[in-house]
Amino acid sequence: MKIAITCHYARLPEDHPVWRRAVSLADVVLSKKVNLTSDELIDFIQGADALITGTDWMREDVIKQVPDCLKVISRPAVGYDRVDIRAARKRGIDVCNAPGTNTDAVADLTMGLILNCARRIPDYIEGTRALEWKLEGKQMNLSGKTLGILGLGSIGKAVAVRAKAFGMKLLADDPIWDEDFCGQYGIEKTDMETLLGASDVVSLHLPLMEHTHHIINEENIGKMKDGAILINAARGGLVDHEALCRALEDQKILAYGADVMEEEPPGDHPLFHLKNAYITPHIGANTLEASQNMMQTALTNALDILEGKECKNIVNRFEDS
Ligand SMILES: NC(=O)c1ccc[n+]([C@@H]2O[C@H](COP(=O)([O-])OP(=O)(O)OC[C@H]3O[C@@H](n4cnc5c(N)ncnc54)[C@H](O)[C@@H]3O)[C@@H](O)[C@H]2O)c1
Repeated sequence: MKIAITCHYARLPEDHPVWRRAVSLADVVLSKKVNLTSDELIDFIQGADALITGTDWMREDVIKQVPDCLKVISRPAVGYDRVDIRAARKRGIDVCNAPGTNTDAVADLTMGLILNCARRIPDYIEGTRALEWKLEGKQMNLSGKTLGILGLGSIGKAVAVRAKAFGMKLLADDPIWDEDFCGQYGIEKTDMETLLGASDVVSLHLPLMEHTHHIINEENIGKMKDGAILINAARGGLVDHEALCRALEDQKILAYGADVMEEEPPGDHPLFHLKNAYITPHIGANTLEASQNMMQTALTNALDILEGKECKNIVNRFEDS
């Protein structure tokens, strides 16, 4: 049996019980590089029964070419928007994700992005590194401000817990509503339009899907409070970047804090030339703890499927398939 791994950002130590389970069942092979081309990927996974995939795009044309022996594509991540899960189902391949494995890491980073936008910390650090001691510019307290959370799932909730401790008022929009949790943290249920109009900080924590693609577009930016902060530690495709750049240039949006871009790696993008855009290179889950959790779950998913056991993280069990 062979397990092919193209994910380099999530790792387990060799003495970890799940890693030991994997190597006792199969040849576990790590790709030499990340971001394989489609041809390199197809070549690398020949003979593989399972693929632990990193940032590779697995669109329909790639899925059509994977070897017949491939039974599972397991993502060491929450998002699986780079895998065509319907095409995989047509070939009888289970696709799995690793929900909840990086929640704290991404929520911590989200708070960092909010603080960077509100206090412009990177700008001041840049100044002191240039041996300048400049205090210019007033910033913004978080306490008493309203945070609007779009997508109150695992990470959205963890952000709410943190923001509550900062004294922020909380609004959220999510089709699934956890009454107990929201009652405990005083989170008010709103629709997206109300949330955009009432929030000093809007933070996105929803998945990238057809209906959420460019959900923050020119029209919805227009509904935001003047001078609000926008945070995106979810997926770049949630935001129309052209409309965003215009809104940042004319200060309709005070600052944008993000961990994700629509294309990754993005190359030279206009956002990187704006002083009020603070962007990190998709490091949300990049803590030691999260990286181990993610690989542990991804490998366990794959091993359970290969051994014919129940796996609760399969995302492409469709009623119509
Ligand atoms: N930056 C990173 O490194 C990183 C790491 C992990 C996850 N993420 C991203 O963060 C996002 C959230 O992850 P999570 O673990 O909280 O997922 P989750 O599935 O627990 O939560 C997502 C929530 O969004 C809600 N939702 C779906 N469509 C919506 C809509 N139109 N309006 C409002 N809410 C909607 C869902 O009901 C769900 O509660 C995902 O996009 C994921 O890809 C990013």
